[in-house]
Order: sequence, then structure tokens, then C-alpha cells
Amino acid sequence: MIGRLNHVAIAVPDLEAGVRLYRDVLGADVSDRQDLPAHGVGVVFVALPNSKIELVTPLDEASPIADFLRRNPAGGLHHVCYEVDDIRAARDQLVLRGIRILGDGEPKLGAHGLPVLFLHPKDCGGTLIEIEEVRPKIV
Ligand code: CO
Repeated sequence: MIGRLNHVAIAVPDLEAGVRLYRDVLGADVSDRQDLPAHGVGVVFVALPNSKIELVTPLDEASPIADFLRRNPAGGLHHVCYEVDDIRAARDQLVLRGIRILGDGEPKLGAHGLPVLFLHPKDCGGTLIEIEEVRPKIV
């Protein structure tokens, strides 16, 4: 069901420091910052030859990333995102297999403007998993 690894998201308390690490120390291409108020986050994308890293920081205290940083003040691995062909079909199969979907279960547009869902980490080995339909039929 799951396809390619689309990205790994890392929560950072200081986005500029994260950019300096990935651009100046690790030597990767890093995008300009994008703020996504609907998600409560600011993001940059680190382009790798075979995938992407998303550095994500909260825009305010109500952001879900702010919660994560209260538990992990230095930041850290937040989620991994796998591509699926049909997000609603994948969701329905996963629910039948006992996986809970976060939120209302309906796909939302994620940071790349594509439909995404998040799976409950307690059902997924302690990892927050995002699934993304990379070639949406109907958004
Ligand atoms: Co993501």
C-alpha cells in the first residue's frame, strides 16, 4: 500500500538555526521559509537526491508543534511521510486493519498542497505517520 518515502519532518525550536545546520554545515539545498497559518507551522524543505527533509517550527503556542517542543525542547524527529496512490482507499484499508486516523478522518491539504492524513502513533509503533496522495484525482 505505501509507496516512496516522501519526506521526514523534524521539529525545530529555531528554524533559522535549522537552516544553518542543513545549508551551511551539512551542505544541502534548503528552500525559502513558508508559513502555513492553517497548520500553525513555518517550514523549509531540504532537498535530498532521494527524498526531502521538512524542518518545521511552531507559529504560536497553539500549534501542534509547540506541544511537541514542550515535550522535546531540543526538537527532534516528528513524523515520516509515505506516498499512497489513493488516500481514501488507503485510509479505509488501514481502518479495517485497526489503525486510528487522527482528526476527522478526512484528508486535508498538507504542506505541499496535496491531500494528507495522519495515523495514530500508538497504532504505528510510536511513530507519527503521514500518508500523502501525490497524484490526486480529486482534491
Ligand atoms: Co509532513
